[in-house]
Amino acid sequence: MKVLESGRIGGLTTPNRVVMAPLGRARAQEPTREQLPRAVTYYTQRATAGLIVSEATHVSTSSVSRPGGAAIHSRGQVAAWQPIIESVHEAGGRIFQQLFHLGRKAHQSRLPGQALPFAPSAIAAIGTVPTPAGPQPFPVPRALALDEIPGLVADFRHAAVNSKAAGFDGVEVHAANGYLIDQFLRNRSNQRSDAYGGSIENRSRFLLEVVDALIDVFGADKVGVRVSPHARGDGIDDPDPASLYAYVATQLQARGVAYLHLIEPDAVPVAERLAPALRRLFTGPLILCGGFTRESANRALEEGRADFIAFGALFIANPDLVERFRVGAGYNEPDPATFYVGDDAGYIDYPALVAQAA
Ligand SMILES: Cc1cc2nc3c(=O)[nH]c(=O)nc-3n(C[C@H](O)[C@H](O)[C@H](O)COP(=O)(O)O)c2cc1C
Repeated sequence: MKVLESGRIGGLTTPNRVVMAPLGRARAQEPTREQLPRAVTYYTQRATAGLIVSEATHVSTSSVSRPGGAAIHSRGQVAAWQPIIESVHEAGGRIFQQLFHLGRKAHQSRLPGQALPFAPSAIAAIGTVPTPAGPQPFPVPRALALDEIPGLVADFRHAAVNSKAAGFDGVEVHAANGYLIDQFLRNRSNQRSDAYGGSIENRSRFLLEVVDALIDVFGADKVGVRVSPHARGDGIDDPDPASLYAYVATQLQARGVAYLHLIEPDAVPVAERLAPALRRLFTGPLILCGGFTRESANRALEEGRADFIAFGALFIANPDLVERFRVGAGYNEPDPATFYVGDDAGYIDYPALVAQAA
């Protein structure tokens, strides 16, 4: 099996096994966090992907950091997403929405009432967050009270109801990259002594409650989950990721979710890879992501290591990535300076092959 062969995921038939990875581009309008028409162009340009996973989308007003982050908690935001999805569908594409909450990676300077961000425990992330006064160290968050947690699960549910109303084909739970759900999963950021901390079962509880709420809204075959066991950048860590993610995979298998999306860079040494073990526990589609090219993606698929491969940076710079794979063309280089800032430049002006040829 190769990247250009058709597949099945989320109850959908895909013309290829190329997934557009979720990519936050910080181009939504402020202060409403509604998408602008240029996002219609951006996503439609990439509609030849087998599956698009949207940029991480905030589920609540308590999740704000850099300006321009897209959200899906208000009616206006739903209305602004609708033309994006319609246009992707008209172009023959499929699109899931990635839902997330920043937790301790938010910043009080941008939160309503300058409220302190919250997290499972009062432990700051390592690193800096962009604020109006320039980059600042991540704040020490306040620890969530036990009785606040159902409200957060409800925020995810409400967001998924909105995703459905906007027309998305499904949702992806962002349990990766050190955001709120990941902060619950890993024991360095989760030092709770109640039902949401301590054992692997307890640390996974918040994720699984969110997954169950979204299944309620969309059905299990329309809910995917993204995890990043190797990400440790901002002080997120766990002494035994193999056991933690094995438990998560077993629970997702029991629920029959749409897919498991595993960030496991192709550069991770074979002995440290979790994909083989997780694949035995979770038998639904596995998406692998992290530094793949057409060649390494084909290798991973042919060796049966994954069912789909997601591409991030390559999709930023190459709207017609699938066509480039088909003809064996080279790639436009992504420009990191415009990843999270700017308007159309570095967003919808990367040339497709036909434009280059003309
Ligand atoms: C500009 C940028 C924005 C990103 N935004 C998100 C995001 O919103 N959600 C997420 O799960 N990962 C996000 N990522 C990570 C990518 O989805 C992907 O895991 C990463 O780029 C590695 O894949 P690649 O080597 O193919 O680029 C982002 C990466 C980049 C470069």
